[in-house]
Amino acid sequence: MKLDRKVAIITGAAAGIGEASARLFAREGARLVLVDLEKEPLEKLTSELEALSRVVLDIAGDISAPSVCESVIDRTMARFGRLDVLFNNAGIVLSGTLVECTEEDWQKTMDVNLKSMYLLCRGAVPVMGAHGGGSIINMSSVAGPTGVANRGAYSVSKAGVLGLTKSLAMDFIKEGIRVNCICPGTVDTPSLRKRIANSPDPKEAHKAFLARQPMGRLGLPEEIAALALFLASDDSKYMTGQAILVDGGMKL
Ligand SMILES: NC(=O)c1ccc[n+]([C@@H]2O[C@H](COP(=O)([O-])OP(=O)(O)OC[C@H]3O[C@@H](n4cnc5c(N)ncnc54)[C@H](O)[C@@H]3O)[C@@H](O)[C@H]2O)c1
Repeated sequence: MKLDRKVAIITGAAAGIGEASARLFAREGARLVLVDLEKEPLEKLTSELEALSRVVLDIAGDISAPSVCESVIDRTMARFGRLDVLFNNAGIVLSGTLVECTEEDWQKTMDVNLKSMYLLCRGAVPVMGAHGGGSIINMSSVAGPTGVANRGAYSVSKAGVLGLTKSLAMDFIKEGIRVNCICPGTVDTPSLRKRIANSPDPKEAHKAFLARQPMGRLGLPEEIAALALFLASDDSKYMTGQAILVDGGMKL
């Protein structure tokens, strides 16, 4: 197993890419700390994984709050005494250009998509370093390196994730901490389905999402989880500071 007995935190674990990663990491032997805003689906996933004899600690909370991030690291250390993998996956998408974006939406996007990563990395780096290192995986998007129309604040936050990733990778390489980020294209998850359902013409919106896919289909959460597993495991131990596009050829 690729993550045998490794301790891994996954944020946004109750749905979509986070959930697929939790299931895959569990199959690969990880001991998991699953974090999400949504208590009910989080507890349901935890019970399901525990029924398969997996070790899981679930923490319900908003990762944009410093107290929640501190408690995630403290409770991980109290339960497992070490931390090997931090997958900063949780994020939100608010549509609109920067001119349309309210200060409140700007702040919320930065707090959830970027500040949470700073807070969790700040707590994780010393404890990872104390045990010889680890792997941090940050969730960006194709919107990070290339920008995406009508996603102003989101694109800025995901570009910030690239900066955060490279900065941490350079500063903590000697501690054995690798930091990489994932830039998915359009992935079929609950958040995407909700955005399509809430658009003025959901059928047209779905068609438009498909039309920009060179492979003629959306990505699957499991296809992103597979990359997260590679980055979490020793298979990628010579890699750090990288942003990897997994987008079905969207940005060729
Ligand atoms: N789906 C896509 O097409 C796509 C594309 C590129 C990047 N991404 C990124 O991948 C990540 C996961 O996306 P997804 O589509 O699986 O999303 P999703 O909405 O399906 O799942 C995200 C999970 O994160 C949780 N969450 C949201 N805000 C939180 C907070 N403040 N604190 C704790 N938990 C919180 C939600 O409750 C949810 O369970 C996000 O960072 C997203 O920006 C997604």
